[in-house]
Amino acid sequence: MDFFFLDTPAAASLSSPVTYIVCSLPILYLLYITLSEKLQAEDTPKGCRRLGLPPGRSNLSDEFDPKYTHGVPPSQVDEAGQPPWRIKALVAYPIKSCAGIEFDVADVVPTGMEYDRQFCFAELLAPRNVRADASEERMPRWEFKTMRDGRFSRLALIRSEIWVPDPDVSGYDPGLEEVKSNGVLVIRYPRVTKGIWSLPLKIAMAIGLSPRETSFRVPLHPPADQISKYASLPVKLWKDFPLSYDYGIHIPQSLRDFLSPDPSSPPLTLFRVNPAHHRQIFRCAPRKSELGFQPVTGFADAYPLHLLNLTSVRDVARRCADAIPRLSVRQFRANIVVQGPGAYEEDAWKKIRVGGKTHNCNKCILQDEKQGQKQQQDEGIEIHTVCRTVRCRLPNVDPDTGIRHPSEPDKTLKSFRRIDRGDPTNACLGMQLVPAVERFTLRVGDPISVLETGEHFYIKMLEPSEGAV
Ligand SMILES: *[C@@H]1O[C@H](CO)[C@@H](O)[C@H](O)[C@H]1NC(C)=O
Ligand SMILES: *[C@@H]1O[C@H](CO)[C@@H](O)[C@H](O)[C@H]1NC(C)=O
Repeated sequence: MDFFFLDTPAAASLSSPVTYIVCSLPILYLLYITLSEKLQAEDTPKGCRRLGLPPGRSNLSDEFDPKYTHGVPPSQVDEAGQPPWRIKALVAYPIKSCAGIEFDVADVVPTGMEYDRQFCFAELLAPRNVRADASEERMPRWEFKTMRDGRFSRLALIRSEIWVPDPDVSGYDPGLEEVKSNGVLVIRYPRVTKGIWSLPLKIAMAIGLSPRETSFRVPLHPPADQISKYASLPVKLWKDFPLSYDYGIHIPQSLRDFLSPDPSSPPLTLFRVNPAHHRQIFRCAPRKSELGFQPVTGFADAYPLHLLNLTSVRDVARRCADAIPRLSVRQFRANIVVQGPGAYEEDAWKKIRVGGKTHNCNKCILQDEKQGQKQQQDEGIEIHTVCRTVRCRLPNVDPDTGIRHPSEPDKTLKSFRRIDRGDPTNACLGMQLVPAVERFTLRVGDPISVLETGEHFYIKMLEPSEGAV
């Protein structure tokens, strides 16, 4: 590298050992970064196994296949003997507004899909629009942050992995930190290059010498012996203030640089749902007297589960294809993607059944024979389709780049999907669900059948542009 120096008379007069030392510093630094990152990348959580589909696999990989453009009648048998209306994909979003994890089997717990929206980023902000005399209400407080806020579109690029203890994994030990916290969440995000090392780092990343991502870990649950490390603080989520564990001590500076590069940004933290303070939900949800339990959720906007019909997304995609050539179902952040029903048939669903036997379904019967103990699943699970998902501009963010389209698909949706008299100004796509039982298991391929249809009337929260993040 020292030929730059030798070109000039000034450089030629430098003593050569100094030149070598100065010029080798960047190389040594890069080697150091590369080695430490390689070690970090290979350092998987001890005694744990990773949940979800293997890297690179997705049940949505064929979402652009033209066969999903049209629905099929519920009586039509699939060529492979599969139920025609079925679960196409299951996705949990451990951190609100960040990338999801796909599952082929997923447990549902009282808050929704297990691991879904158990974490969220928040900023410490002074309340807006408070009355001048309400001095005590003007204290800064933590407010949840999502991609709705244009400053936070890059949340899309934050990925997480869930690792849970598994005694069959070599090295498992009940005393491991990873086991005491009942698992870890690994959080990965693009490396920020800044300062004088920016250029060499960028080059190193471009040629594959240095990883493009960096990561950190947080306990999946605060370990019992360390619970005092985590203050339980109110975080504003719409009109609720659930007490949640402040995980701010785990956030590395590089994540702060990535998410809020402006040094004048408000303080940032990461919250974890405190299971003692789930948010109770009412509005369109069935009441406790009907269900036998109070429906709750974690950091989801409104209801525990969110369902979307692939055919409906293909229809929206067709209408805004000029602006967005490949509008992905992933932009709508549903937990359950279904295939089969025609576009927007879900609009009128009031109650559905998921799983269980359907006639014409050979595979299901085979499965049923194998699992005699799964009585409950044999009958399927009843799920209330409680209201439509009202859309904000969040789906405008491309999940692969974190870049927000200035108008689409929001504009297209508003042009023909303002269908709910409860909120005539906003577009709807997808349905919010409240299961009739608190715990069960969903599988990709589970059949869907509609038990009841009827009217929907969206009941607003206090704040506008609620959607499903
Ligand atoms: C879903 O994806 C997984 C992983 O690629 C695959 O094993 C499974 O067969 C897929 N299921 C369906 C119903 O396509
Ligand atoms: C899926 O969407 C299509 C088109 O809107 C609709 O005809 C069909 O009934 C929907 N099915 C489901 C299960 O939502």
